Amino acid sequence: MKPLTLQIVKYGLFVLFITTCTTANKDLDPKCKSLNVSLTQKIDNEGFHRQLNWLLERGPKSVHCKLAIRLDISKEMYMNPDEIADLNRLNISEILIDRDVDIEAPAHLAEEHTAYIYIPPFLDKVSFNIPFHLRYQKAQISGGFGKVPVNKPTILAICPQSCSNTEIRAPCDTRNYRVMCAWDNVSYQALFDEMELMVPVGNLDDYPLVSIITLLLGCAGCIYTLSVLSTTPL
Ligand SMILES: *[C@@H]1O[C@H](CO)[C@@H](O)[C@H](O)[C@H]1NC(C)=O
Repeated sequence: MKPLTLQIVKYGLFVLFITTCTTANKDLDPKCKSLNVSLTQKIDNEGFHRQLNWLLERGPKSVHCKLAIRLDISKEMYMNPDEIADLNRLNISEILIDRDVDIEAPAHLAEEHTAYIYIPPFLDKVSFNIPFHLRYQKAQISGGFGKVPVNKPTILAICPQSCSNTEIRAPCDTRNYRVMCAWDNVSYQALFDEMELMVPVGNLDDYPLVSIITLLLGCAGCIYTLSVLSTTPL
């Protein structure tokens, strides 16, 4: 009797173990996890012209995957399409910007855009330097600094076997932004903190002073001109 009970208990535990494993595996997406991707992000330069430095590293299992980085660019910053086109032409990068970018617009009149950075085949690590710019912000009472949020990049992958259920439709490559592929949104290890940049903002407090001085100078000019005219003998 006893060995049989033991057998049943053992069998029960075994079944329980198997079920737990399979359900857990479904949630964890083992194939996606094994991509083992990490990203380091740094931002160089000061002022309005900055540079994104990325170091992308990956485990050996993702060698057959095509990778891309998607960056949603907030209104307070922009990538310059001409500059990006130059980098693409020189084979320094392969970047697609999803819409026209007005490089003159101040932040409050600008639109967001998205950049797709396509990663060329690489072994285990690759680094990129991508220039971007901050937009002028609307002058505020008391001036100071405006904040520019830098969005966390999304890493996209197309692997021989799809590895996640969060599919993102995005352009396949830089050739045609209308041709979409189904990419996996890869969870990755972010080796950086989310950051916020600061940009100097015009001071509205100065506005009355500037207006009064401009007005006074205008008046003075008028009076001078009139006085010269009236003293000139006709
Ligand atoms: C990809 O997944 C991450 C984490 O789940 C999420 O924060 C991000 O918004 C997703 N990216 C896109 C473009 O949907």
